[in-house]
Amino acid sequence: MYRTHNCGELSLNQKGEKVTLSGWVQKIRNKGFIIWIDLRDRYGITQLVFDNDRTSKEVYEKAQLINREYVIQISGVVLERESKNPEIVTGSIEVLVEKLNILNKSETPPFTIEDKTDGGEELRMKYRYLDLRRNSIKNNLIFRHKVTMEVRNFLSKDGFIDVETPCLIKSTPEGARDFVVPSRMNPKEFYALPQSPQTFKQLLMVGGLDKYFQIVKCFRDEDLRADRQPEFTQIDCEMSYVNQEDILNQFESLIVYLIKKINNKTVTSFPRIKYEKAILNYGTDKPDIRFDMKIHELNSLAKNKGFNVFDKEELIVAISVPNAASYSRKQIDNLTDWVKKPQIGANGLVWVKYESENNIKSSVDKFFNLSEIKKWIKKCNSTPGDLILIISGEKKESRVQIGNLRLKMAEDLGLRNPQDFAPVWITDFPLFYWDEELKKYNSMHHPFTSPKADDIKFIDSNPEKVKANAYDLVINGNEIGGGSIRIHDTELQRKILKILGFSDKEAERQFGFLMKSFQYGAPPHGGIAFGLDRLVAILKGKETIRNFIAFPKNNNGRDVMIDAPSEIDSKQLNELSLLLKSNK
Ligand code: AMO
Repeated sequence: MYRTHNCGELSLNQKGEKVTLSGWVQKIRNKGFIIWIDLRDRYGITQLVFDNDRTSKEVYEKAQLINREYVIQISGVVLERESKNPEIVTGSIEVLVEKLNILNKSETPPFTIEDKTDGGEELRMKYRYLDLRRNSIKNNLIFRHKVTMEVRNFLSKDGFIDVETPCLIKSTPEGARDFVVPSRMNPKEFYALPQSPQTFKQLLMVGGLDKYFQIVKCFRDEDLRADRQPEFTQIDCEMSYVNQEDILNQFESLIVYLIKKINNKTVTSFPRIKYEKAILNYGTDKPDIRFDMKIHELNSLAKNKGFNVFDKEELIVAISVPNAASYSRKQIDNLTDWVKKPQIGANGLVWVKYESENNIKSSVDKFFNLSEIKKWIKKCNSTPGDLILIISGEKKESRVQIGNLRLKMAEDLGLRNPQDFAPVWITDFPLFYWDEELKKYNSMHHPFTSPKADDIKFIDSNPEKVKANAYDLVINGNEIGGGSIRIHDTELQRKILKILGFSDKEAERQFGFLMKSFQYGAPPHGGIAFGLDRLVAILKGKETIRNFIAFPKNNNGRDVMIDAPSEIDSKQLNELSLLLKSNK
């Protein structure tokens, strides 16, 4: 038997008992006549003691050979510690070692395996298996496991069936590039890895499964960010005979359940905001509604009053920042520099300090009189103590810029508590958007999303006016999930693909199988997919998903531990019919 207990469970309850433990050596303190070792496993740390007087000579000598991260097995007696450590469960005891077995040696690790490590990100990624021994990453994985289990239990109880769908498939467009896999048996032909199981889950509905879910890997070749990995995991769901309301209710209850179960927080409100309203009020379709600070438009009040900066621009937008009127000149200068950064791209920042009814100052006193500025204050619903910040510029850009400033101000003022959860559904997305680069319409969501019945009449004349039966789940300003009610009619599907620029032939080649299936009695259906990595991170109050994935890729899409992607040899290329003739 390697162990009778783990390293995180012994307490004074076991005082005097003989125990056997196995684990890694975290820390050694050798005082010459006494040696203390912190022994670590997944469950915690237990202090071991080797003592000149009480430990046999043989064991004491062996203990001198041990180094950090050695794997050892010990047997000994649980003793009460003289100086207790209340920080850890096992802090009241130590084990006086009688037997010592070195199970494996270890090289000196390239960074300290402690909560506060000296290892940089790249080094820790290279030795991820060592990083996993640290509490932070290990606890994140355990946390992820808990969330996943709760999701599985909840959905299974509600009648959802977990079905696996294939990974070697044909392109499922979700707006990114495909990862492709060459087929040896079918020379010059390729599979695509799924960007999502979208088409398969729809086929499962045609197949009568009624309620499906899968916790599934998806692959997207796109630029990486803190909340994006090239392979990530979805909680993918689909249901038959449902409308949008049914789906929103079903999955609202999942999210409420998770936040209660995992964070012991009760979600009191789950608003729904139309896409257009979200853009107007927050400058983004993923608003953080933990705080208000909505965007207000000042065009009618501030334009054509002789202030050239405003007069020449399309849009003037403002936010009223609570309790920030006391910002110093320097603080406002810093904000101005911040909005002018290339990543934000604003031309500048106009401000109004509404300290009190009788004390109103602004950066544009020369151009606007007090009664004009008071109108702005009214429009922004400001209260005394507010600082109004104003950006002007091109319509779309300035809304995004003020939206970003809104987030920054909330961050600076501590209004974004990661332990508060503010979920919101964004609905009524446009079905298409015009892709200026490709000069064609694209799906805002994906090509299988159905248009709102009332808008189908605009599909030919004014596609941009058509709204979709699509919805996103946003929590604390992060897009956590998205879905839609699907098209289940072949003709409508064909039409949408045509608007998206697919020729009949290409539509048939890529999606013929799906459209064919619709001809055999496809039920009305719809669904949603949540980004599991993002959901887990948010529930833990974080936004970087890398730390919740056991073996993530870096920002260049590389796994630096296994060194992938990597070249393959010419024999393999040849077998896959990928060897260029000149290389043969
Ligand atoms: P969508 O493309 O919106 O919808 O993806 C669903 C959710 O998956 C997460 N996500 C990602 N997470 C990490 N890294 C990525 N690269 C990444 N890309 C997406 C997001 C997102 O909200 N088939 C549809 C769903 C449906 O219609 O049912 C789909 O995949 O949290």
